[in-house]
Amino acid sequence: MINIDINKCNGCGLCVNDCIYNDIIIVDKKASALNTLCNSCGHCIAVCPQNAVLLDNYDIKDVIEFNPKNFTIKPDNLLNSIKFRRSIRHFKKKKVEVEKIKKIIDVGRFTPTANNNQPLSFIVVQNRMEELTKITMDLLYDYVNEYETYMNDPVLNQNIKYINRWKIMYDEYKKGKDLLFYNAPIMIIILHDRRKSPYTLIDGGLAATNMELMANSLKLGVCHSGFFTFAAENQNIRDFLYLPSNKYVVTSLLIGYPDIKYLRTVPRKKPEIQWF
Ligand SMILES: Cc1cc2nc3c(=O)[nH]c(=O)nc-3n(C[C@H](O)[C@H](O)[C@H](O)COP(=O)(O)O)c2cc1C
Repeated sequence: MINIDINKCNGCGLCVNDCIYNDIIIVDKKASALNTLCNSCGHCIAVCPQNAVLLDNYDIKDVIEFNPKNFTIKPDNLLNSIKFRRSIRHFKKKKVEVEKIKKIIDVGRFTPTANNNQPLSFIVVQNRMEELTKITMDLLYDYVNEYETYMNDPVLNQNIKYINRWKIMYDEYKKGKDLLFYNAPIMIIILHDRRKSPYTLIDGGLAATNMELMANSLKLGVCHSGFFTFAAENQNIRDFLYLPSNKYVVTSLLIGYPDIKYLRTVPRKKPEIQWF
């Protein structure tokens, strides 16, 4: 709910203009909130020159005054860091500090979500990585064994190209080599709540991208684990993570200190663009 301090409000109307739901009007030369359709986007807080707006149920300590010194990113540096980002598959045996994990999750929290539904939540796996590796490896190997069964299934057979890889992964795992999670010290799992939003897959993907950028800026490396995300549909893993029926894994990020140095960026396909 929008809360306007009428003693501070100077009736400038900037919040009225920027409210997509027309949920603020001017009454007696002061802004007045209707609070009918508000989605708590917070634009009214951000735009108010008098700092006269609050949102109930939100922590005002989250709000930081804009200062170009600390808020501006140089475009070429941003482009370079995005080009230089790599999926990391070699990690040092070094713990990731809790403060850094919290910072990465904070970035996920502040990434935009459709209609500001904020349907995401996060699981940090750190102490039980070995257990989770075993459960996931066993499960993927079960799929290898079931290969014949779902070979003709148009949905499941998309994974057939992975069957050989899972088999090799399993054989290597038995010899002590982890080609699934690459011995990453932690995994952050991004969950969406189907009750809160139908658009959550995109929300989770956007959060993951920003989280990866933040991890990189903290000198950490990241690799998405699509194999885990796939396996996480299975009840064994859902039970392991204590997932309620409304929550689903969107993506999962393996994170740790990189044990590899890249010296340059990589090439990519030219963009396919239509200009109208
Ligand atoms: C959604 C998603 C799932 C992925 N799953 C895996 C995975 O399970 N295992 C893995 O080693 N890499 C995985 N990757 C990493 C991709 O293979 C990698 O991004 C791609 O080869 C390009 O390399 P780069 O990230 O270094 O640019 C995944 C990447 C994405 C975006």
